[in-house]
Amino acid sequence: SSGTPDIDVSKLTVETTSAPKPLLDAKDLIFGRNFTDHMLSVEWTAKDGWLAPRITPYQNLALDPATCVLHYAFTCFEGMKAYKDANDRIRLFRPDRNMRRLNRSAARIALPTFSTDALTSLMSKFVELERRFIPSQKGYSLYLRPTLIGTQKTLGVGPPGSALLYVIASPVGPYYPTGFKAVTLEATEHAVRAWPGGVGDRKLGANYAPCIVPQIDAMRRGFQQNLWLFGEEGYVTEVGTMNMFVAWVNEDGVKELITAPLDGTILEGVTRESVLELARERLSKDGWAVSERKFTIGEVKKAADEGRLLEAFGAGTAAVVSPVKGITWRGHDIKIPLLPGKETGPLAQKFWDWMCAIQYGDEEHEWRYFKPR
Ligand code: COI
Repeated sequence: SSGTPDIDVSKLTVETTSAPKPLLDAKDLIFGRNFTDHMLSVEWTAKDGWLAPRITPYQNLALDPATCVLHYAFTCFEGMKAYKDANDRIRLFRPDRNMRRLNRSAARIALPTFSTDALTSLMSKFVELERRFIPSQKGYSLYLRPTLIGTQKTLGVGPPGSALLYVIASPVGPYYPTGFKAVTLEATEHAVRAWPGGVGDRKLGANYAPCIVPQIDAMRRGFQQNLWLFGEEGYVTEVGTMNMFVAWVNEDGVKELITAPLDGTILEGVTRESVLELARERLSKDGWAVSERKFTIGEVKKAADEGRLLEAFGAGTAAVVSPVKGITWRGHDIKIPLLPGKETGPLAQKFWDWMCAIQYGDEEHEWRYFKPR
C-alpha cells in the first residue's frame, strides 16, 4: 500500500466469545454452512492505511446500503484449508500462494494490498484459537475464507477509500453434496466464463455469480457441474469450482496429463499448481508427459472414441481432487473410465493420496507450511 501503514501483527487484539458453539459431527457438515466462534478483521482507510487487527466473536457486518461492495462488486476472496496432523499440530497448506493471489485480486479491483507474512501470521493465530473446530479425518478440514471488500459509502464509481479484510472459518468435508464421488459435467456452449484480458484469472466475487445460471441449467439436466469452454475451438478451461485435468494417450502415442495454461481464462489454482508439480516429480519417470497447454473438448471426445481417454478429474482447494466420470457435449456423452467398482480413476486416486499425505503431514514435503505450534 502507498506509504501508509501495513498490517501490524503486534497490534492484534483478541475478544473471545462468551457463547461457544457446539461442534457438529463430521457427517453433518455441509460445505460452507457452519462457522467457528470467531472472525479476524482488519480495516483499511486511504488516509491511515491498515488499522489494528482484531479477533472478535463471529458477528454480522454493519454496512450502509450505499456501500460500494454492494453495488460495484469490490470483493475478492481466497479459499484455503487448515489441517490437523497426527500429532495434533495445525498445518496450513501453501498459504503463501493464497496470500499472493489475494493481493493480485485486490490490486485488480482497486482494493489495498497488504503484507502477506503479516496476514499469514494473523491467520495462524486465528486458526490456533479455533483449533477445536478442525476435523482430523482425511478429507475433512477447516476451510478458511479470507475476504476483502470495499466499504466506502458512495454510489460514485471510483477506488474505495476504505476497505475491510476479514477471515472466517468453516469446518468442512466433501465439497459436492454427493460426497467423495466421481462427478458428471456438462460442457456449456452458450455462455463464457472468462476471456484473455478479462478477470477470470482473479478470485473476484464478480466471477462467481454469473456462473450460477449455467450451473443450475446443467444441474436441471442431471449433471453436477458445468464445464467452461472458450472460443469457437472449444478449448477446455475449468469448472468454476475447480481446474480441470485430462489424462490420455495423445496423438503421438504418449501418456499425457494435460491441463489448460494460465492464459487468463482459468483461475490459478494452488491445487492445480501442486498437482502439476507432483506429476512432474513423480509421474515423468513412468513415461508420462505433463503439459500445460490448450486442448479442446473435441480432442477429448476423439480420444474417448478411439479408446485413448484414460481419466479426467478436477482439482481445487474446496473440491480437493475430484474424479469426473462423464462429460456431455453437444449431446455426446463422453464416458470416462473409473477403476472397476470404484468412484475414482487410478491417477485421481494417486493425486488424492499424495495431496492428503502432504496436507495432513503424514509425509514431510518441501512445500512451505505455516506451523502455528
Ligand atoms: C475453493 O476451491 O476454495 C474455491 O474457492 C472454489 C469455490 C468453493 C468458490
